Amino acid sequence: MLNVRDLKVHFPVAKAGFFARRQVVHAVDGASFEIPRSKTLGLVGESGSGKSTTGLAILRLIKPTSGEITFDGRTLGDMDSETFRAMRRRMQIVFQDPYSSLDPRSTAGEIVRFPLDIHALGSNAERKERVAEVFSLVGLRPRQMDLFPHQFSGGQRQRISIARALVLQPEFIVCDEPVSALDVAIQAQILNLLSRLRDELNLTLLFISHDLGVISHICDEVAVMYLGKVVEKAPRHALFRQPLHPYTQALFSAVPTRNPKLKGAVKRIRLQGDIPSPINPPSGCRFHTRCPIAQARCRSEEPQLTEQASDHLVACHFPGQDISVAG
Ligand SMILES: Nc1ncnc2c1ncn2[C@@H]1O[C@H](COP(=O)(O)OP(=O)(O)O)[C@@H](O)[C@H]1O
Ligand code: SF4
Ligand SMILES: [Mg+2]
Repeated sequence: MLNVRDLKVHFPVAKAGFFARRQVVHAVDGASFEIPRSKTLGLVGESGSGKSTTGLAILRLIKPTSGEITFDGRTLGDMDSETFRAMRRRMQIVFQDPYSSLDPRSTAGEIVRFPLDIHALGSNAERKERVAEVFSLVGLRPRQMDLFPHQFSGGQRQRISIARALVLQPEFIVCDEPVSALDVAIQAQILNLLSRLRDELNLTLLFISHDLGVISHICDEVAVMYLGKVVEKAPRHALFRQPLHPYTQALFSAVPTRNPKLKGAVKRIRLQGDIPSPINPPSGCRFHTRCPIAQARCRSEEPQLTEQASDHLVACHFPGQDISVAG
């Protein structure tokens, strides 16, 4: 359904002074993955690893620097604007913060109806009917259509965002941290809603989250991102049973153990330091500055994503080592 090949998104940043060199943020720096139809790929990684930029670039809300994105067999980059517009109807996004992404001056009904107006679809009565339909689909009541975003709870606001994303009957949705701003109890409700909608409507999802606990609830496959690159990708069960990249192992070790799904994978590892700046990413393996088992080779030679087990890809020169002792 979706195929992303060597995607790069570089942002030029303002020079510090007249003689300073022009700098570039390597937000996404060669990310590759694919998502089969009706499947959900989880994209996980620390804040700043390039997850949101990847999602925005897929929908062309940001222009990629290079790389190829194909959707349903068609390359998105070289379409004329009309073809792309038709394609874009099939791809939608739900953002993390349902407050800033909903216009406070529009009613919930207007917000959900807006995409139908933009694409000039249906008569007035048909649009009304469609909005009522998606309202009930996401568990909102038709009489709530006339309320404004601030009159809803956080969870309900996220239901409005989901309704807006669904109104054009898309096939693919990027969910960018859709529950990260919500209380844990509400998170479960929204995750259940998304899983149910995915199954009922046969949706393909790119589900972005920094939280492996959230990822464990909804994804078929998981891609782990570090400093703009995918460092490990595997079916969810394989990844949770045996994470092979030292960074993925460290991510698991940071998850509270009360989640029984994660128990097997959890070991105690302390990563040193913060994620380095994407302006000058480290040479060789980008993780070498924090990796507890880094060797000389890791500083000079960049590891490529290679298959270590069936469908289990890892970019590391020494995959699968138990790093809990070294850390
Ligand atoms: N418009 C932009 N201009 C410059 N830098 C950006 C821009 N958007 C994102 N970045 C930088 O790119 C990196 C990746 O950001 P982002 O994709 O938001 O990561 P994530 O979603 O994983 O937290 C970060 O270092 C961020 O500061
Ligand atoms: S390539 Fe080296 S530095 Fe990178 S994750 Fe593997 S062992 Fe660590
Ligand atoms: Mg983000």
